[in-house]
Amino acid sequence: MLIGVPKETKEFEKRVAITPVVAEQLIKAGFSVNIEVGAGLSSYFSDDQYVAVGATLESDVNKLYANSDVILKVNAPSPAEIGGMKSGAVLLSFMWAATNPELVDACAAKGISAFSVDAIPRISRAQKMDALSSQANLAGYKSVILAANTLGKIFPLLMTAAGTIKPSKVVIFGAGVAGLQAIATAKRLGAIVEVTDIRPETKEQVESLGGKFIMVKGDASIKIEGGYVKGVSEEFLKNQQELVAKHVSEADIVITTALIPGRKAPVLVTEDMVKSMRFGSVIVDMAVEQGGNCVLSEVNKTVVKHGVTIIGESNIPSLLPLNASDLYAKNIQTFLLHLATKDGFKWEMDEEITKGSLITHQGQKLK
Ligand code: NAI
Repeated sequence: MLIGVPKETKEFEKRVAITPVVAEQLIKAGFSVNIEVGAGLSSYFSDDQYVAVGATLESDVNKLYANSDVILKVNAPSPAEIGGMKSGAVLLSFMWAATNPELVDACAAKGISAFSVDAIPRISRAQKMDALSSQANLAGYKSVILAANTLGKIFPLLMTAAGTIKPSKVVIFGAGVAGLQAIATAKRLGAIVEVTDIRPETKEQVESLGGKFIMVKGDASIKIEGGYVKGVSEEFLKNQQELVAKHVSEADIVITTALIPGRKAPVLVTEDMVKSMRFGSVIVDMAVEQGGNCVLSEVNKTVVKHGVTIIGESNIPSLLPLNASDLYAKNIQTFLLHLATKDGFKWEMDEEITKGSLITHQGQKLK
């Protein structure tokens, strides 16, 4: 089977779907790998490194799409690119099918079988394929670095002859994958870290990383299934805002990562809360693409509101392209080898990972 790897075309995207190491392993497993010229350059992988492990280079991306049996990408191809794929070919990439119906339609129309990596179920067996987690982990780290770079203060306590500098205070909303890595990073830099989440089991995890847990009393409206928050009432969110408001007003940095899968992000930081923050403080709204946890954040913009800098970067993993591509490539390699051998795809339609992530097949929309 011929695997094609086009260069990513999304604005500001620096990642690539496979690294030379993963290309080598796929070739050893019996696949052929054809990669677009320059596809790995912005992740610091040269064409020569791919050629050295046995991959071939293609300068005409249309040919690459037309000839490949499988396309591996980070972001989904455009509808036009999907239209240029071989009928019956397979696509593995992020797709976010619920919010991109035009991509789903294009795949169905062309008879493409599209697997969306964001729809891989977060079960133990699929951990090695879980690109959402690998990318969120890196993004949690980088969110703190972005904030630290913008803040006009250092993080740790510093005693000098000229006086003592108090440590910075970081408040983090959401202690999932991104939030836990943000806590660990802010602690390593010497900040005081306070955290709120609505899943009670996160208290222990936060404390084990040295964070202080802000306990918001739960209510009957919180629905948790399989470790995920599925729903929460407006009343709970209002109570949470009131309790957390004091912590936010004293924070130098606020990082928001609160997510309810498949839903708009909950609003946790109101305009009044932003107004209450000190001049020069910083917010990083990681959930900006899902509508934002802060009412004033804007997608892919850094704005200053009421003296507070609000960072709304929607593709933080791309700011760490080397690690992000490395982990993504390993995720997609495991995913592909779970679904296929060099001789073809297994099409185990009742298997949990296939069932969760297969969006279109044989002209049918499955989601
Ligand atoms: P996750 O599902 O592992 O964690 C989300 C956490 O939010 C959970 O612990 C959940 O209990 C918590 N939560 C839900 N409602 C809450 C509330 N009202 N108050 C406090 N906590 C609440 O998700 P993950 O992977 O950590 O991602 C977090 C967010 O960051 C998502 O919105 C994701 O799309 C985004 N993200 C953004 C990136 C970027 O480049 N901006 C990169 C990676 C992830």
